Parts: sequence; structure tokens; C-alpha cells
Amino acid sequence: MGGESNGQVIFKAIDLKKYFPLRRSLKEILTFSPGRFVRAVDGVTFDIRLGEVFCLVGESGCGKTTTGRMIARLLEPTSGKMLYKPTQETLSKVPPKYVDKDGYVDLSQKLPKRIDKLLRQEIQIVFQDPFGSLNPRMTVYNILKEPLIVHNIGSSEEERREIIYRALSEVKLTPPEQFMERYPHMLSGGQRQRVSIARAMILRPTLVVTDEPVSMLDVSIRAEILQLMLDMQASRNLAYVFITHDLAVANYLCTRIAVMYLGRIVELGPTDLVINNPQHPYTKALIAAVPEPDPSNRFKIREVPIKGEVPSAANIPPGCRFHPRCPYVMDVCKRDEPPMVEVEPGHFVACWLHAKH
Ligand SMILES: Nc1ncnc2c1ncn2[C@@H]1O[C@H](COP(=O)(O)OP(=O)(O)OP(=O)(O)O)[C@@H](O)[C@H]1O
Ligand code: SF4
Ligand SMILES: [Mg+2]
Repeated sequence: MGGESNGQVIFKAIDLKKYFPLRRSLKEILTFSPGRFVRAVDGVTFDIRLGEVFCLVGESGCGKTTTGRMIARLLEPTSGKMLYKPTQETLSKVPPKYVDKDGYVDLSQKLPKRIDKLLRQEIQIVFQDPFGSLNPRMTVYNILKEPLIVHNIGSSEEERREIIYRALSEVKLTPPEQFMERYPHMLSGGQRQRVSIARAMILRPTLVVTDEPVSMLDVSIRAEILQLMLDMQASRNLAYVFITHDLAVANYLCTRIAVMYLGRIVELGPTDLVINNPQHPYTKALIAAVPEPDPSNRFKIREVPIKGEVPSAANIPPGCRFHPRCPYVMDVCKRDEPPMVEVEPGHFVACWLHAKH
């Protein structure tokens, strides 16, 4: 279980936003109407600590993947900042003008290619769909060799083979030589996801974003893969950003949870506090929606009914974006966006029930 982490903060997202432009209709073009946007991520602020599993949870379409892809630098933020504290080894290669007084590099600044590459190496991502994310025409050996070539790791073919051998052993694809020459279609879903994990880990990252890494796998092998990821974290002191819509998995795995709703974080705190003492009506509703296989388990809060569907991210309600579905809605909620308030140490909630108005 992802227990307490007192690790140093290695990543900070500050008011991060990602808006995708919507295709304009002919009428909009002819009438010169302003362009409209999907506000996929609409101002999220959080930090990630070394050694923790930081979880992003929420319903489909709330912006989890978009946030994860920005952290992994596969998507450029529309606005906001991402600050990253590199390892000492990398930091020693970054010219001081790119580093702030606390040792963070602002990833939104224009960085020399060489430095940018070093930083990218330290932040990796594991995707939800191992089949879609592995090139079907490449062998496992070549899939794992590619990142080594890109990042100039290993000075000879023998050395790279040795690194690949160790990476496959680490993800328990053994004996490694049996897997190296296989293509993705010659592997089971669980084995494919092990290759994806190996591909991310082979670069020895510090921060790994994992986007629903087990949701497409057979239920029987999910626990094995999650355990493998936790074991790798323990042996390497990594930070994970774990994306899931499954609160039970988040509860098992995560140190802290950030609950997202329509592009915003509505509640954030240590897992125990968010699960056992949820403060936002949406978090309460999410917990109430978790099935109860065991009546004595901790997900038995069932007081909050949630009505309606999540509105479109292209048409976000004014004020508190949860207000059309909230059983506690007040006038202020329809008008003003609630601020984040710390309700107990480390536990933050964005709801007018907890803020002065
Ligand atoms: N490339 C894109 N172009 C336009 N809209 C996008 C794009 N990517 C995501 N969106 C929209 O942004 C919003 C957030 O999507 P995102 O994939 O981040 O959600 P999610 O929380 O990961 O959902 P899920 O649980 O279904 O994976 C959605 O409304 C989605 O349709
Ligand atoms: S701010 Fe208002 S509408 Fe939003 S969750 Fe709180 S009580 Fe409900
Ligand atoms: Mg997603």
C-alpha cells in the first residue's frame, strides 16, 4: 500500500490549463463568432513528492489523461506552469540560468535541446492500452532498445542487450531471452503491459505517470501488475502519478488523492482523509458509488445521491461547475467559483460549504 511519503517535492503544477479548440461550424465562420474551446484542464495546482503515489481520480472526461500527458510533456499546456526538480546528476548539467533558487526548472521555458532531453528522460509515462502503445512491427528487444538509442544509453550493442535483459528480468518476463524476439501480438495483455512498464523504467525515471495501467487487463492479473509497480517504486524511490477512475484501486495504492471534476481539482489530500472523511459533495458521491462487496468495508458512505450526467467540457456551468448536480447547491454556487480551502492539515476542498462567502 502506498503509505505516507515525506519525500521532497519534485514536481509542481501551478494553475495548469489545457484548452482544445473546437471545430467551428459554417455559421460560426460566416458570422465571425469567436472560437470555442473544450476546457479539458481548467486550472489545476498540485505538487508531487518523491516516493509517493499521487492519484488523479474522477469520472470519464474530467481531464485526468490530459493532465497526465502534460506532466509527461506529450501535450503543451495552454497556460500555467510546471516546475520540475531534476536529480543532482541532471541538475549539474543544467546551466544555472534555467534553474530557480530552490532547484526547480520551469518546463514552460525554452530549454536547450540537450537539457530538454535529459529532463524528458526523467519523466516517463505508461499508457492504458499496452497493445495500442507498442509498435506491432517491432520485437520486444527493439521496443526497449529504441529509448536507449534516443537517450544515448549504452555504448555498445552488448551493453544495451545487458540493460534490456535486466529490464525484462525486473518486470518478471523471464527468462528474458525468450521474450526479446517476440512481437507484441505474441504476448498476453499482462505481458504487454510489463513490456510497457519496462520501456518506461529502462530510462531510470524519477517520475512516472501511469494512465489506468490495469483497466484493460483481465481482473485476475491486475493485482500482480499493481504489485510489480509498487515493488519497483520501493526499490527505486520513484514518484508515481496514478490515473484511475477506480477509487478502490486508489485507496489501495495511493499516498494522496486529487479528485477531479470537469477540469478542476475539487478535493485533494492524504488518501486516508479523502476516503474516510470526504468533504466535497462530489467525492462523497463517488465514494457512495463504489460497490460494497463487504458490508464492513470503508466505502459505505451512501448519504449523497448524485443526479444527472457530467456536463460537456465545452460548456462548463458558471460558478461551481458541480452545482447542477449538487444536492447542497446555494445561490453563491451558481455565481462564483469556490476557492480551495485547507479543512485539515494537507486536506483541501473547493466548495462553498467550506469557504466564507
Ligand atoms: N485532443 C483533444 N481534442 C479535443 N478534445 C479533447 C482532446 N483530448 C481530450 N479532449 C476532451 O477533454 C476532456 C478531458 O479528456 P481526458 O481524456 O483528459 O479525460 P479523462 O478524465 O482521462 O477521461 P477517461 O476517464 O474517459 O479516460 C474531454 O471532454 C475530452 O473529450
Ligand atoms: S460549491 Fe456549492 S454546488 Fe459546489 S459542491 Fe459545494 S455546495 Fe455543491
Ligand atoms: Mg483518460
